[in-house]
Amino acid sequence: MGRPAAVPRGEDRAAASPLLLAFRGKPAPVTPVWLMRQAGRYLPEYRALREGRSMLELIASPELSTQITLQPLQRFDLDAAIIFCDILPPLSGMGLRIHFDSQSGPVVENPISSTRDIDMLAVPPAEENLGSTLQAVRMAAAELSPRGIPLLGFAAAPFTLASYAIEGGTSKSYTKTKLLMYREPAAWERLMRKLTTVLADFLVAQARAGAKAVQVFDSWAGIALGRDDYLRFVQPHTKKLFASLKAAGVPAINFSTGSAGFIEDVAEAGGDVVGVDWRLPLGVYWKRIGLDRPIQGNLDPAVLLAPWRELRLGIDAVLDQAAGRPGHVFNLGHGVLPETSPDAVKRLVDYVHERGSR
Ligand code: CP3
Repeated sequence: MGRPAAVPRGEDRAAASPLLLAFRGKPAPVTPVWLMRQAGRYLPEYRALREGRSMLELIASPELSTQITLQPLQRFDLDAAIIFCDILPPLSGMGLRIHFDSQSGPVVENPISSTRDIDMLAVPPAEENLGSTLQAVRMAAAELSPRGIPLLGFAAAPFTLASYAIEGGTSKSYTKTKLLMYREPAAWERLMRKLTTVLADFLVAQARAGAKAVQVFDSWAGIALGRDDYLRFVQPHTKKLFASLKAAGVPAINFSTGSAGFIEDVAEAGGDVVGVDWRLPLGVYWKRIGLDRPIQGNLDPAVLLAPWRELRLGIDAVLDQAAGRPGHVFNLGHGVLPETSPDAVKRLVDYVHERGSR
């Protein structure tokens, strides 16, 4: 399929973009590519803006958030921007105090440790609690729409956010989270219901503010849990989240890592598009979730640190696995690593477009 003869303007241009065509399973003139964590520490211009400011100050400023969202688009020919925020801010309106430590990453200062803590959690509307990010979505979408580039909104999935609320930060073993599940299943249910309500509201609000698709990051469910626990304690809530997102009227991406053992169950939780990690070849994942379901992925982010010949082999392998079928969006299998060179990202984006055009 060639490029459309008459190029529509404004809103229509984003709708006809390669990314949104692929998210709907339609043939696109080129394989669309964007990278999880494409705005961040590997970019010197991000580090310059971050200098002397905290992550939360950046997130609280719609102007700075918009600027950071657009930074990677100034360097690379990406098919999407993702709004600059993080997965933790929804917790602060619920009554948890958060900050970002440059050594240990995200920190919840008063993590949940009792069923009473769960009952105390507030469920405020996104407009009240996350207004600066919603304003940044409006501003970034206004910049990007005339260029035909879709803006993505995002949030964590309920399990991944619960793990931060309970562990107080990134965890290796997730024992506190699992102990709450096993010891206090009713309290776990209440926590997951509250998180799901807050996350659904935030994602729908991002779509209303101008996000053309939304991604749900379940970064840790597959790392932490076996299949049976995923099915019992997580999937019903993630399912409810994706069902609520239908109201947003934009495609939703269901991304997870470490879930190769039960990707069918993850896919069954919902989402128009399934985002996959690099543990299996893309074609294997695609057959398991169904070839009629759009897929996003899945180069190992570490390959971006390798010499070009190795990087090219890795990109070729992903594109060969996709075999030119409609409904593939090129991405990494997880976020860009901070030690990545921007030159490698540029080569990747250009090569995907060159090889993935028809
Ligand atoms: O382009 C983008 O994707 C930027 C927006 C973005 C950030 N975090 C900014 C950020 C997004 C989509 C996220 C998602 C996020 N945050 C996830 C899901 C994706 C994934 O990687 O699994 C998770 C688990 C987090 C939690 C988090 N935030 C961690 C573990 C860390 C520390 C480690 C790291 O990768 O930096 C953060 C901090 C963070 N979030 C930074 C940025 C730019 C670095 C903060 C700094 O400037 O010190």
